Amino acid sequence: MRAFAVNPANGQAGLEVIEEPGPPSGGQLLLRTLEVGVCGTDREIAGQHYGTPPPGEDRLVIGHEALAEVIDVGPDVRDLQIGDLVVPSVRRPCPHASCSACQAGRQDFCYTGDFTERGIKELNGFMAERIVEDQRYLTPVPAQLRDVGVLVEPLTIAEKALAQIWQVQQRLPWACSIHGEGLPAQGCTALVLGAGPVGILGAMALVESGFHTFVYSREPEGGPRSQLIESFGGVYVSAESVTVDQLPARLNGIDVVYEATGASKLSFDVLAQLGVNGVFVFTGVPGRKHLAEIEAGTLMRNLVLKNQVLFGTVNADAQAFVSAVQRLERMVERWPNVVQLLIAKRWPLDDTARLLSDPPPGVKHVVTLAG
Ligand code: BGC
Repeated sequence: MRAFAVNPANGQAGLEVIEEPGPPSGGQLLLRTLEVGVCGTDREIAGQHYGTPPPGEDRLVIGHEALAEVIDVGPDVRDLQIGDLVVPSVRRPCPHASCSACQAGRQDFCYTGDFTERGIKELNGFMAERIVEDQRYLTPVPAQLRDVGVLVEPLTIAEKALAQIWQVQQRLPWACSIHGEGLPAQGCTALVLGAGPVGILGAMALVESGFHTFVYSREPEGGPRSQLIESFGGVYVSAESVTVDQLPARLNGIDVVYEATGASKLSFDVLAQLGVNGVFVFTGVPGRKHLAEIEAGTLMRNLVLKNQVLFGTVNADAQAFVSAVQRLERMVERWPNVVQLLIAKRWPLDDTARLLSDPPPGVKHVVTLAG
């Protein structure tokens, strides 16, 4: 069968014919891969900045944003059947009994760093015609989401972030209606940094949670990204017309910042503008050695005097996958055309190399492996 693999050491990438996976045993399922989204992490692997092949191999089958169909089930599989649609998660637990996070099924919080990730770190990914996966790592997707289910994995980043925002803001029971009536974030303002797929999906999740949501990015106002953002009730703010210092006045205060750029200097500049009792969430992964001048005194002073919380978040847990599927259903109901528009184009597997080296414009590009 066909697969797309990258040698992360030298950047060589291309289609390969690899062995068919064996029949599923125990709690495993054999899946027919329908679609795989391409993201910045895949480009970093192809650009030799990230990614590790399975032990003893030099090539890694990439792909970690997948939608697949069950074509065979092992004898111990419960709750899933042939024909069901599923989205696999990315991270698998480390082998250490001492890692309480992995032992608890929360490998997204792995302590040791010895976790593996499909399509990223030491495990082949989903850019292959057929894959085998254990039922523990699959989330069912309703058939109505066939067209957009490939967006579930990138949406889980926002789901895990939101779950943590609610945990943190339980310290403000008068401000969060999480346990009460109405949308949890009513009356709160969120600022998303970056208008890529993670930023836009994050902004949609924030709007859907009741935040008055602004997206700050470089493109001028009135362009396609800004129109897209306005079409789901977000407000686009261009860095060309509003400086970082002007953001609090323009937004009338900032309760949450959802960073989705990986731009370290910009992020710390915006951190200085975060409001009282605010939360700043980092999701982007910048290059390692990036020196930038920051106002450390102001930042530290604000963190203390304004009760601010700053956290980073990576990957996602099983509950975040379930929440992402439910959120996507609500998003499709509320903004059917917008969700479709997020997928700029579908490409055959043969075009994957081009998507990595020369990404076309548009929010999300998807490789179709089966009709
Ligand atoms: C994936 C995460 C993964 C992270 C780091 C992201 O692109 O969505 O699941 O943990 O890369 O490897």
